[in-house]
Amino acid sequence: MQEKLGAAHLEALQELGAVSDSEALRAWELKYLGKKGVVTELVRGVGALPKEERAEFGKRANEVKQALELAYADREQLVKDQELARDLEQGEIDVTLPGRPRGIGGLHPSTTTLREFYAIWAEMGFQVFRSRDVETDEMNFELLNIPAHHPARDMWDTFHTTTPGVVLRTHTSPGQIRSMRELGENGTQPIRVILPGMCYRYEQVSVRSEIQFHQVEGVAIGKHIHLTDLKGTIAEFARRMFGADKDVRFRSSYFPFTEPSMEVDVECLLCGGKGCQMCKYSGWLEIAGCGMMHPVVLQNGGYDPREWSGFAFGMGVERMINLKYGVKDIRYYWGNDLRFLEQF
Ligand code: PHE
Repeated sequence: MQEKLGAAHLEALQELGAVSDSEALRAWELKYLGKKGVVTELVRGVGALPKEERAEFGKRANEVKQALELAYADREQLVKDQELARDLEQGEIDVTLPGRPRGIGGLHPSTTTLREFYAIWAEMGFQVFRSRDVETDEMNFELLNIPAHHPARDMWDTFHTTTPGVVLRTHTSPGQIRSMRELGENGTQPIRVILPGMCYRYEQVSVRSEIQFHQVEGVAIGKHIHLTDLKGTIAEFARRMFGADKDVRFRSSYFPFTEPSMEVDVECLLCGGKGCQMCKYSGWLEIAGCGMMHPVVLQNGGYDPREWSGFAFGMGVERMINLKYGVKDIRYYWGNDLRFLEQF
């Protein structure tokens, strides 16, 4: 057996040396390394040997097999190079043919819109503050004036993690507390930041709701910040985002962490206020929730609410794109359908 193996090894190498095209190469592979190849059969024969010879033979056979596989790979490269050279020489490959361009992909509409947000808010003096996606129950709710028994918790259906007290943030508002604590220097410094990021809600996915979406939160804290500052700031943003000719209106609303609270509408971008399907014939589209920061929230962020005041707002990014482009189904955003994504 050992001799047979040695002979097969030699013979195989010799034959391989004479191989000069891919057809012969394939035939060689089949003959020696194929399922019924010479070397394969020899390896299979190990069982017929006396016990004490098996290990030694098996080892040797594997070495031969590996050596032949390596030699094969070398030869394959050589044959390929030769064939390519031959084809080029005979003009079978037209090197003047233009190449096929590779698709380079593009930016997701959420990314483009987020960048628009950053640019506008930067011009208005707001820096980006990155907060985290995985939050504590305390940050997401309690410190925002939403205790465990508070009915407003129903506004946010929450994804809980397996760690008690740790959730996926349901809104970017916990970043209010984090930014105050990290930038406020114990309630002594004014702040002006936006907090962009993904939020998560335990929803039945439908045309109108998704389990994840982006929000951009805004926080401004200072010694003389009033409701008029909030209104002016939001109205200016809407003008820059949607155009100076668009009307904006504020409706009173309720959030546990702001007082007073408002919701912001912009004149319908599709019908210009006349009423259409998009604005449900109201002429207005909702773009944000906002309000003056609740004294309890300011306090939780380290500020003395008798001295300091501030406003906060939150906007849904995909909602905004829906309004701008008339997207009717929110599931498109994470559906990875190129027919949708390529339109942006
Ligand atoms: N966090 C609120 C939401 O998700 C929006 C909001 C942010 C409202 C800041 C007021 C102030 O709906």
